[in-house]
Amino acid sequence: MEIDTLTSDELARRAFFVHPPQPASRLLIAHPADSVFLGFAQHLSVPVFWDYRRLANPHICICGMSGSGKSYAIKTFITRASLLWDTSALIIDWTGEYAPWVRAAGGAVFELGDGNRGINIMELGGATPAVRLRQIANALCMLGGILDGREKITLELALAETYRKFGFILEKKAPSNRRMPTLKDVLVALRRRKGRDLPLEDAIGRLAAPGMDFLCKKEAIGISDVLSGRLVAVDLSGLPTDELRSLAGLTILQLLKEKMRSGSIDEARLRHFVVADEAWKIAQDERSDLVAIVREGRKYNFSLIVASQNPNDMSKTVLANAGTVLVFRLIETGMKKYLEECLGYSQLLSKKLEGLPVGQAIAYFAFKEGAGGSSAFILARIEGEEPLMMWRIGGDGMEVSMESAEFRRRLFSLGLTAPQVAEVDGLFEKNSYRVVASALVGKLLKFGFAKSAAISFLREIGLHDTQIANAFSENRGNEAGTLVITDG
Ligand SMILES: Nc1ncnc2c1ncn2[C@@H]1O[C@H](COP(=O)(O)OP(=O)(O)OP(=O)(O)O)[C@@H](O)[C@H]1O
Ligand SMILES: [Mg+2]
Repeated sequence: MEIDTLTSDELARRAFFVHPPQPASRLLIAHPADSVFLGFAQHLSVPVFWDYRRLANPHICICGMSGSGKSYAIKTFITRASLLWDTSALIIDWTGEYAPWVRAAGGAVFELGDGNRGINIMELGGATPAVRLRQIANALCMLGGILDGREKITLELALAETYRKFGFILEKKAPSNRRMPTLKDVLVALRRRKGRDLPLEDAIGRLAAPGMDFLCKKEAIGISDVLSGRLVAVDLSGLPTDELRSLAGLTILQLLKEKMRSGSIDEARLRHFVVADEAWKIAQDERSDLVAIVREGRKYNFSLIVASQNPNDMSKTVLANAGTVLVFRLIETGMKKYLEECLGYSQLLSKKLEGLPVGQAIAYFAFKEGAGGSSAFILARIEGEEPLMMWRIGGDGMEVSMESAEFRRRLFSLGLTAPQVAEVDGLFEKNSYRVVASALVGKLLKFGFAKSAAISFLREIGLHDTQIANAFSENRGNEAGTLVITDG
């Protein structure tokens, strides 16, 4: 027998026992009835449970390219935490992608911009006017872009004057049914000032202009409903500009922060998720109220979830301080570098980012106690759990609805393959979970099913014969004649 002498470098290249780093299993496994199950770690298939109490804080940062699985992961956290701890969730929904899911899960959606709906940025949400006016000036400084320090002071004075004019005492909280001023009243106050500041008047004027005055709505959507709902999405996609979206998003966060501060501290459960998905403008700035929620959230059991396709959009403070980071597929080198800098990933993990399939992520858990040198690992796939989603199939003014899992089961027993069922899934997802019968028939015919099989399937799920006949005739294109449905 011959014994080779090998350097450790040579040994490493042989990669017999090399696997990506992973925290000790005891750190990943927690009590299923008191922690969020996320899936299995790739190495040794250790089940991964998310227990925010073991982590430095309950905040979660998620990044990855479009379609990589960010929103799916967020929905999984929200759904499971709601069942476990009765955790409520407020989603600042930049692109409107959560609205259909929130509706289907029984939550409330507030659509800004739609049918002239907006908020009143001067709403106090439990704060005193003195606190609120500083927040408003900060928000406009951060996102309105043109206010310098002097203009900020002028604006604060005009805001104070306006609150006073409406009978508020600056240092005192006021009942919520009090008549509120809006930025239009602030504009009047600014115009009456001796040393007029035209750029400042322009900035406020822009927000008070007809058609753009979504932050000046007296009949505003109920902020207290937004802040106290169990599952709420504020859909900002209907607002005409990014500036308005950012300001509305930040306003809601500011009011939520006040609510958080007025809440109790020592509850042993996660109370609230605040989700900012693609809200890049408000997640970027170190002065953002998101940073305050990150700093204080742990104390109040508030968890912030920030998601973005581009990690550079997240403030370093938010990213480097999150107790949990999930990185889905990422290709761009600059983005990967930024993450390496913030999180100190090993090169082995960083290299893997490009090849991650949908739903697979590199997870980074910042444990309270030391995690045996490494707290980053590959999470093989987020094992999501959909809430009870009702799928609706309609046509001719009638609609049947069925729980999505049951509907899928029936598709499988009809004989659809897994990719075909996934295609039907996609059809429902794309159409806000409501599909016309003819579209479903179109899919079944495309998959090669006989008309008779399709007809009995549609009958089984409760569609009427007239609906079925119309659905087929819409799919027959130029074929002549009427479809005759016979018994059996
Ligand atoms: N872990 C998973 N298991 C099964 N399906 C998944 C998983 N993650 C994502 N998907 C599916 O992949 C698709 C895209 O996922 P998702 O909407 O979460 O992407 P995203 O990262 O939020 O993209 P975008 O940045 O465009 O919003 C969805 O249809 C979703 O159902
Ligand atoms: Mg998404």
